[in-house]
Amino acid sequence: MASGTGSLLESLLRRSDAPDAAYRVAAIVVDRDCRAADISRESGIQLIDCRVAAYPDRAAWDADLAARVGAAEPEWVVTAGFMKILGPAFLSRFGGRVVNSHPALLPSFPGAHGVADALAHGVKVTGATVHLVDDGVDTGPILAQEVVAIRVDDTEDSLHERIKSVERILLADVVTDLVTKGVVIDGRKAIIP
Ligand code: GRF
Repeated sequence: MASGTGSLLESLLRRSDAPDAAYRVAAIVVDRDCRAADISRESGIQLIDCRVAAYPDRAAWDADLAARVGAAEPEWVVTAGFMKILGPAFLSRFGGRVVNSHPALLPSFPGAHGVADALAHGVKVTGATVHLVDDGVDTGPILAQEVVAIRVDDTEDSLHERIKSVERILLADVVTDLVTKGVVIDGRKAIIP
């Protein structure tokens, strides 16, 4: 599921093209016109284009999104720069099987502006977090994290680009681990055995 330039999606697809790939991408979900939709058309992978504006309200969007994604029968759902909060219908169907990549070291700097917020706060390190999605904003159990140092001359763009190069590898690694080994949840702790 993606809304942006889709570079994390491309990384997931590259990994799924490898001869020893552990997973395949069943469908690509977008909520707007974006590069991720083009990637779907170029790759021939089913596109699920599901926009809030096409529904009477958010709940109707959420329910139909759950139904359409469910029809693709995914084992795991990955949000890779999907700029919408998933609602109760979606999470009750896929809860515990939705993975998100966030461009900061959670629980610091959750939300849509994680890179800018870390920069504005003046922290010296930030990074990437891959976590399970729950009904909060970037609050689910953490699966993996990696640190990225902040440079004095960093802009939001330069920092985000360095974080994204980490996210691309980390997310594909975690998805590979999840499909091959699963995950054990113990309270807040997520352990990939
Ligand atoms: C990533 O930094 C992701 O964590 C954030 O949006 C970015 C997506 O990048 N939520 P891209 O669209 O895959 O290039």
